[in-house]
Amino acid sequence: MTRAKIVSVGAYAPKRIVTNADLEKMVETNDEWIVQRSGIRERHIADETEATSDLALKAAQQALERANLVPDDIDFIAVGTTTPDMFFPTVGNILQHRLGCKRVGSVDMLAACAGSVYSLSIGAQFIQTGKYRRVLCVGAETLSKITDFTDRGTCVLLADAAGAAVLEASTDESGLIDFDLYSDGQYWDLLYMPGGGARNPATHETVDKGMHFAKMKGAEVFKVAVRMFAECTEAILSRNGFTADDVNLFIPHQANLRIIEAAARRVNLPMERVFVNVDRYGNTGAASVYVALEEALAGGRIKKGDLILIAAFGGGFAWGTALMRW
Ligand code: UT7
Repeated sequence: MTRAKIVSVGAYAPKRIVTNADLEKMVETNDEWIVQRSGIRERHIADETEATSDLALKAAQQALERANLVPDDIDFIAVGTTTPDMFFPTVGNILQHRLGCKRVGSVDMLAACAGSVYSLSIGAQFIQTGKYRRVLCVGAETLSKITDFTDRGTCVLLADAAGAAVLEASTDESGLIDFDLYSDGQYWDLLYMPGGGARNPATHETVDKGMHFAKMKGAEVFKVAVRMFAECTEAILSRNGFTADDVNLFIPHQANLRIIEAAARRVNLPMERVFVNVDRYGNTGAASVYVALEEALAGGRIKKGDLILIAAFGGGFAWGTALMRW
């Protein structure tokens, strides 16, 4: 079967940087606690004028420019986001127009922090089946817009960014080898946003109760995340005849340095072969893997022929892996 390969990536984060010291002035927290428990030192936060599609547009434009493509070269747009500009239309729809693409199909996938792996692997299917020549995959979030900045359990973690990747059919061994997508809704109430949807439509009361903010039982999410990360990375490697020794770079969702380290330990991957930028970005949801991939490439951490393992995990729970030969 044809493999889908990433021919270029782009990334964008809002200009405004919020440090742990800035958060100390807003909630009862401190730099030492945040660094020790999460590894995060600073994060980018959108201003009042910036929404998710603004960030997505910049990342997508950079990916197109780097591939020497024009918007009309794109045949489909697959977006992962938990924080669309509005309920509908989708960010994909808005991007199609703002990029200036022809009338291509577009879709948003809401898989929380797993939106990166979901958008990438589902976008890749259109290439693998031969249906489309080029697919634009995007992960974009303004998680700050659903963050309660009086809740120290979430506001020190969540942040904003966007990343994009252009996929084409591979002409050699490079490209997406395999992927797995998972969900298990029994954990829905460990990480969710209760208000604004059909269950609790927006009213003055839902807003007064802060139901339009993300709620998280952090310690419980942590435990399941580490276990699922280890299980799903082992599953995709062994099914494809690889071990952790074969992986040149592991790019996990950047939620928390301790989750990344614990998962890497369980699968026997030394941290030298694990990409980490959570210290400078915080948890940017569906954007995090794309932004990490962009930085890994820009920093020369990936070379042709490398085996790259991606894994992401988030609310729902939804999670997944992707294995690719660069
Ligand atoms: O993409 C997936 C999305 N979510 C995640 O990946 C989050 C997963 N969970 C985590 O990252 C961690 O559980 C946290 C970083 C959220 C919390 O770390 P923890 O080691 O699990 O701490 P904890 O929730 O067990 O809280 C320990 C203490 C508590 O105080 P007491 O009850 O021991 O007195 C908290 O109230 O730390 C307190 N605490 C804080 N203290 C200072 C909670 N948040 C803060 C804070 N600053 N920001």
